[in-house]
Amino acid sequence: MARHLITSALPYINGIKHLGNMVGSMLPADVYARYMRKRGHDVLYICATDEHGTPAELAAKAAGQSVDAFCAEQHDKQKAIYDGFGLEFDHFGRSSSQQNVELTQHFARKLHENGFIEERAIRQVYSNTDERFLPDRYIVGTCPHCGYDKARGDQCENCTRVLDPTDLIDARSAISGSGDLEVRETKHLFLLQSKLQHEVEGWLAGNGSKEWPTLASSIAHKWLTEGLQDRAITRDLDWGVPVPADVWPELAAEGKVFYVWFDAPIEYIGSTKEWADAARDTAPESRDWKSWWYEADDVRYTEFMAKDNVPFHSVMFPATQLGTREPWKKVDFLKAFNWLNYYGGKFSTSQQRGIFTDAALELLPADYWRYFLMAHAPESDDTSFTWELFSSSVNKDLADTLGNFVNRVLSFSRKRFGDEVPAGAAAGEAERKLGEEIARLLAEYEGHMEALQFRKATASLRALWSAGNSYLEEKAPWLEIKTDKDAAALTLRTAMNLIHLYAVVSEPFIPASAKAMRGAFALADDTAAWVTGEEAAALAFVPAGTPFTVPPVLFAKITEDDLEAYRARFGGGDDA
Ligand code: MF3
Ligand code: ZN
Repeated sequence: MARHLITSALPYINGIKHLGNMVGSMLPADVYARYMRKRGHDVLYICATDEHGTPAELAAKAAGQSVDAFCAEQHDKQKAIYDGFGLEFDHFGRSSSQQNVELTQHFARKLHENGFIEERAIRQVYSNTDERFLPDRYIVGTCPHCGYDKARGDQCENCTRVLDPTDLIDARSAISGSGDLEVRETKHLFLLQSKLQHEVEGWLAGNGSKEWPTLASSIAHKWLTEGLQDRAITRDLDWGVPVPADVWPELAAEGKVFYVWFDAPIEYIGSTKEWADAARDTAPESRDWKSWWYEADDVRYTEFMAKDNVPFHSVMFPATQLGTREPWKKVDFLKAFNWLNYYGGKFSTSQQRGIFTDAALELLPADYWRYFLMAHAPESDDTSFTWELFSSSVNKDLADTLGNFVNRVLSFSRKRFGDEVPAGAAAGEAERKLGEEIARLLAEYEGHMEALQFRKATASLRALWSAGNSYLEEKAPWLEIKTDKDAAALTLRTAMNLIHLYAVVSEPFIPASAKAMRGAFALADDTAAWVTGEEAAALAFVPAGTPFTVPPVLFAKITEDDLEAYRARFGGGDDA
């Protein structure tokens, strides 16, 4: 059986992420990792903070902290929020780790040995006002391809094209806004990507990228069609992975560091090594980082990211890996997402527009967000967050369809039959039909999960919840009880089996609520495993006589007053 390596794009360190960041990378990766683990696969889910580069330097300066102190603090802050969201990383590392420094330098050495790195004198933009070289993304101007007037020097957010700062029309410093820029000469290392173009093309043709979401494969192919350019992979900054002095003494002496986009993807490997090193003294054999990354033919590697990250992951990082001439694991499946908008406009960190992950958790439990975000994941198109859509999803799907079912069944049964699952009549035609329907919907759900189609998967999950409601309405145990106690007991026992099944299959999306549902019944731990189609059809997980408790209300409804308050606090989109 294949082992599954899963990574989500590394969140940048410079601030708290918003819900748009969450739905485009970490959350779907967690849902998928949880699903695969539950199905019994060997899964390793790795992420980290992306800590180098100018944004970190500037944010630290703004906070009046040293960069390392700032990064350490922000890392812990982000980690605490992700814990709150129930993200179960095997490891959440830091790209500034010693492990990543060593690996990044190793990659550079190998690329150099194989003739893929060249030292070139370049003319680089220097800001007289800011008294520093400006990294590409700190130069803004108009995109020469699409005319977007806030394009950054590294990439146009609007058309996703990768840019060079000198391509920009009306360039200015993003730090000071000053147009007082001059070009100075300085030496940098270049990765000769042009020499790797054909190899990357060959690799993409043979690696199953045809199965990737169109969004991912089309961006990859567009980038290749435009032709891979040689790119500078060093910068004049204080903070970053130093250029190794044994290979490039002059550049090292000048204090050059690697470009953040060179070392960040390597941190997927670095973080895995951090994970292994954390167990070095206790259980070293249990964590063999290299077996996941090096000559790892039995590993299936799935990456999660938003669409602006696709060029770097589908082409640039694979080129880096190929150029080492070492058998590093490359991505097998790339799951890319469009944007989640806030009322049709962008979520924006700089303008603090939309909902940030820390604020979300203060407002409502993680499962509400997890469910909503995955049910409306921007898979085939951009989607919009609105408070109205959010509250209708929570109220209808979670509170009415799932939560109410659980509560109604368990409280009614306790009232009429006491604290144990009642026995009642043997299953009949209605239960047989229900079981068939459940097995069919479960297979549909599994199919969508295997295909990483999350919106469709949540639709199947909702259909599973609804099937229970229809059955309950049809059998109406509150009427049955008046004429036929055994019939009512059968209905309730069947519904309780559905609750158990819901707990198991809903866990990837709403883990905390799933735990509460599962905890209602006094069952052995090993019954948490995934269920087969046959078991689903039989609906006999919870035997008569099993003690149960009624959990507190699983999902509280969002009221009109709540909505009013949220809109007032976060902006209702009238400014979109
Ligand atoms: N920090 C980058 C972003 O927020 C993503 C980096 S993914 C990487 O867009 F792993 F490749 F670094
Ligand atoms: Zn553009």
